[in-house]
Amino acid sequence: MSAPTTYTKITTALLQQIAAAVGEANVFTDQAILEDYSHDETEDLHYNPEVVVKPVDTAGVSALLKLCNENHIPVTPRGGGTGLSGAALPIFGGVLLSMEKFKSIISIDTENLQAIVEPGVITEEFINAVGEHGLLYPVDPSSKGSCFIGGNVAHGSGGPRVVKYGTIREYILNLEVVLPTGEVIWTGANTLKYASGYNLTQLMIGSEGTLAVVTRIVTKLIPKPTLSVLMLGSFLENEQACAAVSAIFRAGVIPSALEFMERRGVEWVVQYDQIKFVLEEGINAYLMIEFDGNDLEVIYKDCEKVNTVLEAYGCTNVLLADTAGQKEELWRMRRTMAESVKSNSVYKEEDTVVPRAALPQLINGIKEIGSRYGFESVCYGHAGDGNLHINIIKAGMSDEDWKNKLKDGIRELFQLTADLGGTISGEHGIGLVQKEFMPIKYSEIHLGLMRSIKKVFDPNTILNPGKIF
Ligand code: LAC
Ligand code: ZN
Repeated sequence: MSAPTTYTKITTALLQQIAAAVGEANVFTDQAILEDYSHDETEDLHYNPEVVVKPVDTAGVSALLKLCNENHIPVTPRGGGTGLSGAALPIFGGVLLSMEKFKSIISIDTENLQAIVEPGVITEEFINAVGEHGLLYPVDPSSKGSCFIGGNVAHGSGGPRVVKYGTIREYILNLEVVLPTGEVIWTGANTLKYASGYNLTQLMIGSEGTLAVVTRIVTKLIPKPTLSVLMLGSFLENEQACAAVSAIFRAGVIPSALEFMERRGVEWVVQYDQIKFVLEEGINAYLMIEFDGNDLEVIYKDCEKVNTVLEAYGCTNVLLADTAGQKEELWRMRRTMAESVKSNSVYKEEDTVVPRAALPQLINGIKEIGSRYGFESVCYGHAGDGNLHINIIKAGMSDEDWKNKLKDGIRELFQLTADLGGTISGEHGIGLVQKEFMPIKYSEIHLGLMRSIKKVFDPNTILNPGKIF
């Protein structure tokens, strides 16, 4: 996206027009508030907006975008602020459009297994609300306690259950969106099938707020399984754990989660979150494997099959967690890992994804590249999807190398990922911090198509400029 570097600065007169569009009580210019919205969870990046606007309805979003489009003011949409690629950073100043007042679960339709929800609803609250009706909305990123469902749509989010249930792409039927020019459309239909021209719903998912602002979401729901069992396998080597992953599926089972964790990640999170877990000497990697369903006998049969595979791949110990308390503790360990890394060290996070049988080559390659460039890494992630989060740790690297040399190492990591048939991000998105790496995977023709699509929706480049490409 060739974003112009100069946008209209927001004057007092424009502020008054913004207030008229969304209501004065929803416009904020206090320095402390601007700073609160200057960052998300991406490294330590900060960009102050000129104004924070929190509309309360679709009409407000529409009036705001129309005004900004006419006056050439950049608008950066924001959900819960938990993003890891800098997509919600207002890099050109302008308007920070927070969707936090879109908080309502409008309906849960238990006949059609669908719900209509506003984008500012916290993902976990939505999961719990449909759960009360015996229904499952399975998209549960680690940040589910604070991320917004609208942000999940914008990023094509995943989480641990993707391996069995798919990403958010499988659960969004229809979206009400406001185009950068202010018009409002529904992108599809509230149906399970859609063969009615280009699928604009899917185009919106993962577009990181660059094409339109989502104001209503129609989701698909499924019946909620009543039982689950969680296993934790310990391995001497990363490579063995990673090799076991594709073998598990070859044994004819599909877990509802299959997560990989390196020892150092476990050590840090156990300390950080006071988790009751004892690390055995010599163990360097763990696989967390969950099965869900409605029949305990069937679940245990699947666990037995996995046990056989784990043994064949050198797993030294399998812990079976079947009480709610044990399961919760292990999941807390996995879900808090990102936070614990952040609190422990200066770091950069990459979100690689490869076809899952290539995981052993990926993990070995990461360590080899790290040893050449002098960085350490803590890897964990959704191994069942071939999705590894690489947390690059500054450790002994000099400030100079961290600033200048590391970029070449990261480039090599992405080149390796691409060579293995994978891509730059599995679920965290491209945003600001990964966009320079897009040409490693995508040709100029490919990126040109993306730019052309952007231009159709946003001819004046006002909506989240400077992101993705
Ligand atoms: C996780 C986030 C970082 O998997 O995606 O914990
Ligand atoms: Zn993840």
